Amino acid sequence: MSQESFYQRAGGQKTFNDLTSHFYALVAVNPILRPMYPESDLHGAARRLQLFLEQYWGGPSTYSQERGHPRLRMRHAPFHISKTEHDAWIACMKDAVDALEIADDLKAELWQYLAAAAAAMINAAD
Ligand code: HEM
Repeated sequence: MSQESFYQRAGGQKTFNDLTSHFYALVAVNPILRPMYPESDLHGAARRLQLFLEQYWGGPSTYSQERGHPRLRMRHAPFHISKTEHDAWIACMKDAVDALEIADDLKAELWQYLAAAAAAMINAAD
């Protein structure tokens, strides 16, 4: 018995590429988020997020091969993430998720995870 992963059901790599490119296009022009990302272009950050999400949802495990254990809270510790940064991140990600051409139940499942994960990443008071 083989069970299809969320990654496969949601359209595989193309979906995660669409999601993260849309998200980082918004980050690139967001006055709260853009200064948090040190690189002159956001390509590396977009790739890391894409690979992480692909792995989380049952796709290839390239993220861990390249980056090791995700430890996302620890990796976000150097950044000041209060409600302000959280809300900016959520707004960009909501746009990106809404634009995906996937079934509504898949969208809802994806969004539920992202919203919970973002709330867990808050590490500073305003
Ligand atoms: C709550 C608001 C959040 C903010 C402001 C934020 C900000 C950042 C920043 C500034 C980086 C460094 C960029 C880089 O990769 O060089 C980063 C990395 C990353 N973020 Fe977030 N993030 C947030 C939430 C999340 C959530 C909810 C997830 C996952 C569901 C996530 C996944 C990642 C991943 C996978 C990386 C790369 C880690 C690595 O391998 O180094 N982030 N984030």
